[in-house]
Amino acid sequence: MSIKSEKDLEGLRKIGRIVARCLQLMQSKLEPGMTTAELDAIGGQFLASHGARSAPQLTYNFPGFTCISVNEEAAHGIPGSRVLQAGDLVNIDVSAELDGYFADTGGSAVIPPESKLYLQICAVAKQALENAMLEARAGAKLNRIGFAIEAEAVKNGLTVIENLGSHGVGRALHEEPGFIPGYYDKRDKRVLRENQVITIEPFISSGAREVFENGDGWTLMTSPGVFTAQYEHTMVITKGKPLIMTLPN
Ligand code: CO
Ligand code: CO
Repeated sequence: MSIKSEKDLEGLRKIGRIVARCLQLMQSKLEPGMTTAELDAIGGQFLASHGARSAPQLTYNFPGFTCISVNEEAAHGIPGSRVLQAGDLVNIDVSAELDGYFADTGGSAVIPPESKLYLQICAVAKQALENAMLEARAGAKLNRIGFAIEAEAVKNGLTVIENLGSHGVGRALHEEPGFIPGYYDKRDKRVLRENQVITIEPFISSGAREVFENGDGWTLMTSPGVFTAQYEHTMVITKGKPLIMTLPN
């Protein structure tokens, strides 16, 4: 969507804060021995208590309130009977709707003890998001986002998942501009416009360039021994720094 009024901005900010707080709450509850379904229920209750509806459930009939992806799972993991273990890499992605506005956020976290590799991919993915946000301004080419993400990955000897990307959001979970790659595509001539609402969500991997669906219809994973971290914000494009909508405060 494109922000056209103060009401649009307030509506987006409201749901942005809810998904950000939901993610923060779920991350604070991470504990060995709990199932991903229990973790998802905490998120589901939080969203419901704020009148928000899970966007993947609403849009795609996803079998959960949030996406929870563990270790080799990179995205769209289905909450269920899987028991979380010490040392697990857990990605939680929370997107929801309130009053017709959609916001999308996500982040990876490690249940202690943290392996060096997990800490590294998380740190690089976080930095890639920061760097990409600095490039995302009105009038800039959209492919500056992928350029910034890929550069940070390469600099650290890591890879970008090429078949997962950022996207337009706001009045729907996924809208125009469609797929925004996490790598540099010089043929992509699209330009960012003032007031446009997008996510930026780098997927940084210890070696994979693609994810594949594991057969359950949802979960996207890499081959064994390869791991991916992701951080995501919903933001409004301006002439300067983007306005981040998915902050908890
Ligand atoms: Co998301
Ligand atoms: Co997203």
